[in-house]
Amino acid sequence: MPVKLGLIGAGGIANFHAEIASKVGLKIVAVCDIDEKRANSLVDTYQGAIATTNVDELLANSNVQAVAITTPNATHKPLAIAALEAGKDVLVEKPMAINSAEADELVEAAKNSKQILQIGFVCRYAPASIAAKKYVDSGMLGKIYHVKANLNRRRGIPGLGRWFTNKSQSGGGVLMDLGVHLLDLALHITGHPKPERVSASCTSTFGSPISSYCYNEMWAGPPNAKGVFDVEDAVTALLRFHGGMTLELNTSWAAEIPSGVIKDGLLLLGDKGGCFFDLWANELTLAHEIQGQLVETKQQFPSDDAWEASWKRQYEVFLDNITKRKAPTASVEDGRAVQLLLDALYASSEQGCEIAVG
Ligand SMILES: NC(=O)c1ccc[n+]([C@@H]2O[C@H](COP(=O)([O-])OP(=O)(O)OC[C@H]3O[C@@H](n4cnc5c(N)ncnc54)[C@H](O)[C@@H]3O)[C@@H](O)[C@H]2O)c1
Repeated sequence: MPVKLGLIGAGGIANFHAEIASKVGLKIVAVCDIDEKRANSLVDTYQGAIATTNVDELLANSNVQAVAITTPNATHKPLAIAALEAGKDVLVEKPMAINSAEADELVEAAKNSKQILQIGFVCRYAPASIAAKKYVDSGMLGKIYHVKANLNRRRGIPGLGRWFTNKSQSGGGVLMDLGVHLLDLALHITGHPKPERVSASCTSTFGSPISSYCYNEMWAGPPNAKGVFDVEDAVTALLRFHGGMTLELNTSWAAEIPSGVIKDGLLLLGDKGGCFFDLWANELTLAHEIQGQLVETKQQFPSDDAWEASWKRQYEVFLDNITKRKAPTASVEDGRAVQLLLDALYASSEQGCEIAVG
C-alpha cells in the first residue's frame, strides 16, 4: 500500500512536491490551501484527492498518513506541531521556523512525538553534495579549513511585495530563503562543527521602491507594487567554527553580477585536497597534490537533472524513514542548528560587528 500524503499549501513548490512524491510512490490524497482555487487546481491532477481550505479537516483525515508543509515560512512551526500532534509524519519546508525560539518549540514537539519530522534541506540530496560528503567523511580532503558557499540570483526576488519579502511572514529575505540551503549544506558536509563567531552584512538594494524593480520571470509571481519589502536581498558573511574552519557565504536575490562569473555551489578546502561542486551542473571537481603535482579530476553524475535528482532522493529518504520508522538525517536538530546561525547572522548585521553565536 502506498504511503498517503496530504499537502498543506498548494502554491509554487507544492506542485513540485506532489509531482515528485507521486513519482517515488507516495499517493496524494488531500490538499489544503487557504486559497480554494489553488487547492482545487492541485487536486485536479491527482485522482481521488480531496481539496480543503481547512487545515484541521486535513489533519483529522485518517486517510492522510504524512504531510508536506509548503506554506509561507511563519506558518511552518505551528503547522508542523499541529501535524505531529495529529499523528502525521511531516516533511516541512525550509526554514523550519523563523527564529531560534520557535525552532526550540518544534524541537520539543518532535521529542514528544513518535512521528517522523524531516526538514526540507533538499540540496543535501544533489548527487554532487552526496559525493562531496563522502570525500570529506573518508578523509580524502584532510582537515577542512575553509568553505566558500555561493547561491546568487541576479533579478530573482521571489514575489516581490508578497509574503516572501514581508518579514512578519517570511522571517527574513534571501538568508531565510537561499542562505538556509548553503548553511545546512556546509554544516552537513563538514560534520556539524560548533559555530563560534559570525560576521554578516545584510543589504537591501534592489527591492525598493518595488515599482522600479527590473523584474525577470521569477518564483512566486510578479511584483506587487503596493506590497511590503522589508527584508534583505543580499548577504555576505563569514562564520568561524571551533577547530578553525571558516565559512564564507554569499547569497543574493538580486545583484549586478555579470553572468557566469560566480557559480552556485560549495568550494571545500582541506589540507589534503579541495573540491568544488556546482549545485546545478551535476558535476564535481577535485584538486589534489600527487607527487609534487597539482592534479584535477572531474566527476560527472548520471544524466538526470541535478534539481530533480535531489528532490527524488529527498522523497525516497522521507518514504524510507516513514516505512522503516527511522530518525531522519535532515533532523529537527539540524534545522535548529541552521536557525541559530540565521539569528546570529541577522544580529551581527544589525550590530555591524562580529558576534558570538548562541
Ligand atoms: N526547498 C526548496 O528549494 C524550496 C523552493 C521553493 C519554496 N520553498 C519553500 O516552500 C514554502 C512555500 O513556497 P512557495 O514558493 O510555494 O510559496 P507560494 O506563495 O507559491 O505558496 C504558498 C501557499 O501557501 C498557502 N497558504 C498560506 N498560509 C496557509 C495556511 N495557513 N494553510 C494552508 N495554506 C496556506 C498560500 O495560499 C499559497 O498558495 C516556503 O517556505 C519556501 O521557503 C522551498
